[in-house]
Amino acid sequence: MSKQILTIFGATGKQGGSVVSSILADSVASSKFALRGVTRDVSKDSAKALAARGVEVVAADLNDKESLRKAIKGAYGVYAVTNFWDSMSEDKEITQGKNIADACKEENVQHLVWSSLLNVTKLTNGVLSEVHHFDSKAKVEDYIRELGIPATFFLPGFYMDNIPSMNFHPSPEGKWTLAMPMPADAPIPLFATDRDTGKFVKAIFLKREATLGKRVLGATAYVTPLEILEGFKKVYPEAGKEATFVTVPNDAFKEQLGKFGMPPAAQEELLQNMRLVYEFGYYGGEKLDWSQSLVDEPLTTWEEFIKGNPAFSKAQ
Ligand SMILES: NC(=O)c1ccc[n+]([C@@H]2O[C@H](COP(=O)([O-])OP(=O)(O)OC[C@H]3O[C@@H](n4cnc5c(N)ncnc54)[C@H](OP(=O)(O)O)[C@@H]3O)[C@@H](O)[C@H]2O)c1
Repeated sequence: MSKQILTIFGATGKQGGSVVSSILADSVASSKFALRGVTRDVSKDSAKALAARGVEVVAADLNDKESLRKAIKGAYGVYAVTNFWDSMSEDKEITQGKNIADACKEENVQHLVWSSLLNVTKLTNGVLSEVHHFDSKAKVEDYIRELGIPATFFLPGFYMDNIPSMNFHPSPEGKWTLAMPMPADAPIPLFATDRDTGKFVKAIFLKREATLGKRVLGATAYVTPLEILEGFKKVYPEAGKEATFVTVPNDAFKEQLGKFGMPPAAQEELLQNMRLVYEFGYYGGEKLDWSQSLVDEPLTTWEEFIKGNPAFSKAQ
């Protein structure tokens, strides 16, 4: 029997790249599915590396509907994700998501997995109305449901990578501080994106009937800032001796983002994103059990993620 084609968007990135790796490494999934990876530039090294692993690499752009139809043509399934900066523009992400949905409808795709998130404006009754990269994904999810495309919605948790890049650094004297704009007991659904996206998405494609129409939450566990700090102390006892957690005041958090070159609207968006975590819950308080029951491999813990991680080289 010939294999069913899965078109994977973002195949050169974290989420899509993880989907490719998990399916290639799984004997059942790789005997069932042939992979088609999408990039805007087939000549880049990461695209060539995909081709060398047996992935059919095709060029397409989420802003160009015709290119999407070609990338999706003949595909049984599609994994679709946008990039971070485009997702910060609500209109842009909605247009890109609708482009994918329309192409999937026209090409009669049998299983679309959309990388979604919750509508925070609705969830919070308008208290947090600026988390556009969540709201726009949810609006695309609504559109996919309206079109009646057979689909599952994968909601990635809070990237573990965010923490070393934004929140956890050593001083010049080597004293580590975890600084986040939330209380010490805020429940953060931590997710090792490049290692674990594929574990969930592979399971979704293999368990189509059980997952159609459902939201699958992609996270290892709800972990608090204090537990993040404890994990660091365990893995790096020497560097951990003086490590501390501080709650960053909201204005100071925004100022810090400004120093990274982020415009004021994006600063407010990310601050509200953090407030979501402890005021309403990143997933609105939903438990992770059902989503995790789909997965047949262990998920990456915070301790496993930081062990030997180059982002923590100064602690090693
Ligand atoms: N940071 C978090 O905590 C968090 C949590 C949940 C969800 N998210 C969401 O995760 C998404 C980002 O996913 P990621 O981390 O996998 O991103 P990533 O590693 O930056 O990869 C982005 C991928 O998208 C592709 N791409 C970019 N623009 C494209 C376009 N116009 N047309 C077609 N492909 C395009 C890139 O491919 P080429 O460059 O090769 O074309 C690349 O493969 C964002 O929507 C973000 O909101 C983030």
